[in-house]
Amino acid sequence: MTHDSGERDAGDGTEPPESTDATDASPVDTDGPANETPVETDGGVAGADDVTLDPWGSSTVSDYRKLFDQFGIETFDEVLDEVPTPHYLMRRGVIFGHRDYRAIARAMRDDDPFAVLSGFMPTGDPHIGHKLVFDEIIWHQQQGADAYGLIADLEAHSARGLSWDEIDEHTRNYVLSLLALGFDPHEGTLYRQSTNREVQDLAFELGIEANFSELAAIYDFDGETDVSHMQSVVTQMADILYPQLDEPKPTVIPVGPDQDPHMRLARDLAARVQFFGVTEAYASFEADDAERSLIAYAYETLSDRHPDETVRCVDAANMLESEREPGATDVEATTLDSTITMLREAGKEPLGPRVRIVDRNATEAAFEALIEAVEGEKRVYDEHVDAFDLTREEAEAVAREVELDHGGYGFLPPSSIYHRFMTGLTGGKMSSSVPESHISLLDDPETGYEKVKAATTGGRETAEKQRELGGRADECPVYELYAYLLAGDDEFAKEVYDECVGGERLCGDCKEQAARLMEEFLEDHQEKREEWETKLDELDFEFDVDRRG
Ligand code: TRP
Ligand code: SF4
Repeated sequence: MTHDSGERDAGDGTEPPESTDATDASPVDTDGPANETPVETDGGVAGADDVTLDPWGSSTVSDYRKLFDQFGIETFDEVLDEVPTPHYLMRRGVIFGHRDYRAIARAMRDDDPFAVLSGFMPTGDPHIGHKLVFDEIIWHQQQGADAYGLIADLEAHSARGLSWDEIDEHTRNYVLSLLALGFDPHEGTLYRQSTNREVQDLAFELGIEANFSELAAIYDFDGETDVSHMQSVVTQMADILYPQLDEPKPTVIPVGPDQDPHMRLARDLAARVQFFGVTEAYASFEADDAERSLIAYAYETLSDRHPDETVRCVDAANMLESEREPGATDVEATTLDSTITMLREAGKEPLGPRVRIVDRNATEAAFEALIEAVEGEKRVYDEHVDAFDLTREEAEAVAREVELDHGGYGFLPPSSIYHRFMTGLTGGKMSSSVPESHISLLDDPETGYEKVKAATTGGRETAEKQRELGGRADECPVYELYAYLLAGDDEFAKEVYDECVGGERLCGDCKEQAARLMEEFLEDHQEKREEWETKLDELDFEFDVDRRG
């Protein structure tokens, strides 16, 4: 970078004096300290141990690690290697978590059908935070996904109270930006919730499986929550499963972590409407996960000891009893007791691993067909079939096929990926309602330039200190702009990072460079929007719904 002319601020005087608490700041995945920072920062939410994920609140995520521990989101790193040509947001750690993305990576590798879908509430202008999601949809479309972009207008109307005129205006803007960024509307599908009858019908069916207490527990709804808001929840459930309506296929939903409660409910509902559930078992009785792992342990140990003998339930009970540990916790002791009791009751019944297909919602004819369809050794009970020669995946496939043949949906549990929230340009949260915190995709290029120039940085008070200590790229919203959006290739993003923390880069010049790139991006984006503007009539999309309310 060029030199500063005096010992003025490393930036342009807009930096806060000390380290900003930009806890959501995110680095490129370089080998620097950057790797650790975002996940280990434990700022924000004073005194709160729980992360609350509230889709309609303004919660920021102060500690991404808790998402993994508390909610079972997996780190994206674990699947990265399985993705044929990962997107830059994946490589740079901006997409940090997932549920079941393996199924998507597999479909990509094997050239099997898969889908991507995400939705946008048209409450304001689309901004650079939304661009992340647009890009995720578009990239999956380019990798061969059936792609869906939807406008959550019912949600905006019921949960946010926007008028239909406002909604129509924003809807148009979201669609234009999605197209300008590269969504192919001829290969993919664009729709709005209010005009999609199939989504409404599916929402109605899914609503039968969810009751008020459950929604209250998940979303903190109470007696004051209006019914249409609840309807917007089941509508989102239907959105998420909509790509599978014709044919079940792995579907990924790219969202921010605030939407994870919706993902958990959608995955639950997908399972609840299934005709059959598939579990693993060792004997005819039902055991829970903890009991099953004790039984598995007893079975493995005994069949190792006596490879040629049939292992019987009572043998396993005796073995577990003989290994009872005095130091066990109450929970462990209770599990052990219940396991031993079940095994004793089953007595001489042979013990052995099997896959269990349980009847959940099947018709009689479907259950009969399932029994027929299970190959190899099987045992049939009133409400389940045990299959001895099928793997779990094979059993799931058989169950799904029978379900589809008998008029069921056969949904696969939807997958999701989660991206970090961008920090606002002025520090804190990037928010649609605070114009200077974000750059709208509709901002004049000149305004975009100015906003970057006015942004908070992770710079030191003086250029001298900056040279000596290096900048704090990890806490710098400008650095995020490079990492999330402006740096076309990873090398460039890494260079900015290294130069910053190494003290070679000063904020004034760094912002100038970012501001110019932002200006160019906005110019180009808006040109493409204008081109699409003339072609909107060709699309199968209702831009004006003309509704009352
Ligand atoms: N609730 C989402 C939001 O607040 C919008 C949305 C509606 C959505 N349906 C969806 C997101 C389906 C992902 C998938 O932005
Ligand atoms: Fe300053 Fe750029 Fe470093 Fe941010 S990334 S602290 S703006 S030099």
